Amino acid sequence: MDKTLISVHHRPQWRTHIGFLLATIGSAVGLGNIWRFPYLCYQNGGGAFLIPYLIALLLIGIPLMILEIGLGHKVRGSAPASFASINKHWEWLGWWQVIFVMFGIVLYYSVIISWCLNYLVFSFNLSWGANPGDFFFKQFLHKSARPFPLGNIRTQVLFALGAVWFLNWIIVFRGVEKGLEKANKIFMPLLFLLTLIITIWSLFLPGAKQGILVYVRPDFFKLKDITVWIAAFSQIFFTLSLGFGIIIAYASYLPRKSAIVKDAIAVSFANSLFSIIAGFGVFAVLGYMSYTTGRPINQVVDKAIGLSFVVYPKAISMLPALSQVFGVIFFGILFIAGLSSSISIIEAFTSGIVDKFGYSRRSVVSYLCVAGFLGSLIFATEAGLVLLDIVDHFLTQYGLVIGAILECILLGWVYKPKMLRGHINSASHLHLPRWWDFLIKVVAPGVLIVLLSRALIQEFSSPYQNYPAVALILVGRDWLVYTLFAAFIVASRPWQRKLSI
Ligand code: ALA
Repeated sequence: MDKTLISVHHRPQWRTHIGFLLATIGSAVGLGNIWRFPYLCYQNGGGAFLIPYLIALLLIGIPLMILEIGLGHKVRGSAPASFASINKHWEWLGWWQVIFVMFGIVLYYSVIISWCLNYLVFSFNLSWGANPGDFFFKQFLHKSARPFPLGNIRTQVLFALGAVWFLNWIIVFRGVEKGLEKANKIFMPLLFLLTLIITIWSLFLPGAKQGILVYVRPDFFKLKDITVWIAAFSQIFFTLSLGFGIIIAYASYLPRKSAIVKDAIAVSFANSLFSIIAGFGVFAVLGYMSYTTGRPINQVVDKAIGLSFVVYPKAISMLPALSQVFGVIFFGILFIAGLSSSISIIEAFTSGIVDKFGYSRRSVVSYLCVAGFLGSLIFATEAGLVLLDIVDHFLTQYGLVIGAILECILLGWVYKPKMLRGHINSASHLHLPRWWDFLIKVVAPGVLIVLLSRALIQEFSSPYQNYPAVALILVGRDWLVYTLFAAFIVASRPWQRKLSI
């Protein structure tokens, strides 16, 4: 590590260990767990999907979670600071991660949270009526089929988006202990309680059993298909917030004596357990729908976004009792899960800027949230859903994965994992075995490179969702390219603060 970068500044710290755990679980458990995971299971072989999913969790998810917690803990710095302290020429990688996540993922992510807020309100009188599909796409979003022209900003989305960014701002502005930790101490127990209520409720609906059978029934034949494996591995990244720079920043606020390995395992399993439980709830409701309409489940299920905003509202309206309450709880869960993830993204970028330039955290967060709000407006337009789909595809499938491959190369080859393992083992009781080095050096980057190549081949053989190629290039690919430029520019600026090691 670069010894010229030595610690001087005071760093905030989590007040309690449970505070750190809840905040990290809060970042991991997000929109991806509730609408994406159950659908992925359904599409990719039901219960059999759990096999690649669990393999991805054990082979890459947990090892990288340990790496990111260990690195943030060792350097006591954000992702850019951590990478810079290993090798100054790699600082850009940390910036790239936090920049494309802050000026990419969170911009559309906050728009989805704002839809959830709108739908929470709609639940009071089931405003979506008899045709939730038309309501969502035509009435609510005025969705256009193409990415250009952008069309008007949707007023309802705009107001909810303002509220989402205001909440983001107020929580992150208050700092690590008073903001992030306190908020997650309220959000997480509430989230688990509401999820438990709604899942148990769903399990008692008529037809629930059939839905669950579809969810868990394994179709091992599907495992021959490489796309199932790609889906499982990219889901693990997104769901564990790996490659976002978040986990590194959160771990940098830990005290010296910390149970790094145990925490990494606990967070990873808690997150997957949440997904699996949420899946039971979602499929029980689909089973009920199929029972009531007499249509098979494969005709009632829908792709990710449609599952939450079309199929679920339809099911809610059909419930025998207390539909409104069910709706408020369901969209409340999505809202809380989303918010606890979006604040973590803002924190990852904030900590990078504060570490490097020494600006006041409060001003950084304030400017950032205004910029974030303005940037999100593009996804609140009539073309928003199409743009969101393209940007999400490129940033998660390529940005996160390329960032993680480079992270493994940096930690595995430039800086020896043995050194980081030594640090982790000196801080925590549960010791990391030697073969962890091999996972970081060879297995994780190897598997990710194979998956990335397959994804690229697919990309070139058929344009994603048949969108016009020019839109995919200008919106998707260029989003990555511009954020990469920005990363190089920020990385080239001199450090105003010294780093800790
Ligand atoms: N980990 C967060 C999610 O799954 C980003 O939504």
